[in-house]
Amino acid sequence: MASPITILVLCIIFTSASATVQNKVTDNPADELVATINSNRTASKLTSLYSSQGLACIALQYIKAYQGDCGAVGGPNAKKPADSKFAETFAPNCGVEASSLTPITGRLLGCQSKYVKPSEAFSEILMKNNKSMEILQNKNHTEVGAAVSASDGGAPFFWCVLFSNGKSNNSFVLEGTSAKISRPGCFSGANDVCSGAVASSSTVRLWPAAVAGLVALAYFFGI
Ligand SMILES: *[C@@H]1O[C@H](CO)[C@@H](O)[C@H](O)[C@H]1NC(C)=O
Ligand SMILES: *[C@@H]1O[C@H](CO)[C@@H](O)[C@H](O)[C@H]1NC(C)=O
Ligand SMILES: *[C@@H]1O[C@H](CO)[C@@H](O)[C@H](O)[C@H]1NC(C)=O
Ligand SMILES: *[C@@H]1O[C@H](CO)[C@@H](O)[C@H](O)[C@H]1NC(C)=O
Repeated sequence: MASPITILVLCIIFTSASATVQNKVTDNPADELVATINSNRTASKLTSLYSSQGLACIALQYIKAYQGDCGAVGGPNAKKPADSKFAETFAPNCGVEASSLTPITGRLLGCQSKYVKPSEAFSEILMKNNKSMEILQNKNHTEVGAAVSASDGGAPFFWCVLFSNGKSNNSFVLEGTSAKISRPGCFSGANDVCSGAVASSSTVRLWPAAVAGLVALAYFFGI
């Protein structure tokens, strides 16, 4: 029979092991968002998606194309980067081989003045649109990449998830061993501790009151 000491030691080992796993995830909000997405999919008996570093880096470049303009994410002035940007700008900035770019099968994009935890960004921003569930649960997706970025100096905070139907070994192939890191912002799949890239609430500049509300948009697109 296990002595109380053994049980105590086991508990400590178990606690520290789970703390390590959790840190690995929470140190990068984009990785945590991917974990949230995959647990939502698997709870609905869908496949877990491969976390692609190259695709995630492109998701951060996609955010940067908005140049901090929350108003261009949703509402009447909604815009999206031209498809040609993927090969011309996003892939080279990430060190992703342009020839390995694979169709994007869905995306979720949201922007908000306040930083929230990834699980809240998922449920309160990205999944608020009517089409979001359909995008999330599409059976054609095989891989995912997520990114979060503040603008220089703080708000607004952008969240972007890109889905693709590529094969993990020949889509979004990196020229080097890892995707090129750029700041500010974090992307998933990079083994990159990135909590510091998101401004803490004390440094967040207030977004003008007129657009302080939630701005989120989600829809399909193809390239
Ligand atoms: C998946 O996320 C949606 C949106 O937040 C939620 O309504 C749904 O209950 C989640 N599904 C599971 C199985 O957790
Ligand atoms: C979602 O759909 C409902 C019912 O079809 C509609 O009333 C609502 O305005 C829609 N919301 C958005 C954000 O499109
Ligand atoms: C999945 O891909 C097939 C083939 O390209 C397409 O016909 C179908 O509409 C897609 N399904 C969804 C849910 O997007
Ligand atoms: C990728 O994986 C598939 C199956 O897992 C294999 O058939 C294919 O040869 C691999 N391609 C490369 C470029 O490694």
